[in-house]
Amino acid sequence: MRLLFFSMCALLFVLSCKQIEESPEAATELMVYDMYQPSEMANLMNEMFAQNLKVKQDILDGKVPTEFPLDFLKIHTAELSDFKSRNETFRSFSKLFIESEKEIFNTESLIPIEERFNNTVNLCISCHQTECTGPISRIQKLLIK
Ligand code: HEC
Repeated sequence: MRLLFFSMCALLFVLSCKQIEESPEAATELMVYDMYQPSEMANLMNEMFAQNLKVKQDILDGKVPTEFPLDFLKIHTAELSDFKSRNETFRSFSKLFIESEKEIFNTESLIPIEERFNNTVNLCISCHQTECTGPISRIQKLLIK
């Protein structure tokens, strides 16, 4: 069961990263891709990725991000892909992540913003280590070096 879970996770990741190469198989890959319906959670995750990429750029440009994107709260309710369910670990990671993400926008915090941002990205990664390891290398690119 666990193995099945991980292989489906890996498969979904492959399908979701749109790396369709020019190869004889390209046509069939394209068909498979078209059939893949991202879950509400997958859409939210992609949105969180894009949003945090913007926040990272703002931080690098010396701008202070002030508005926590309320959409992120959907992490508690968004529908997951069929084969996944919310367990305790998932719930506690969701909470930790949201608290940490909110800290990025706390203009009164004494912790340097780069550190708050990286802490949050590391929580994305921690949850993914328990849930879906596929996107981890992509998420690591968000870290501010
Ligand atoms: C509480 C656990 C958890 C946290 C925190 C979390 N993720 Fe995810 N992530 C998941 C799960 C579960 C999926 C698979 C969703 C599905 O297929 O329904 C996923 C999927 C993804 C995907 C693939 C989406 C797709 O198109 O299939 C990306 C990219 C992603 N997450 C990025 C992030 C980023 C960036 C963050 C932090 C800003 C983050 N995740 C935080 C659990 C988490």
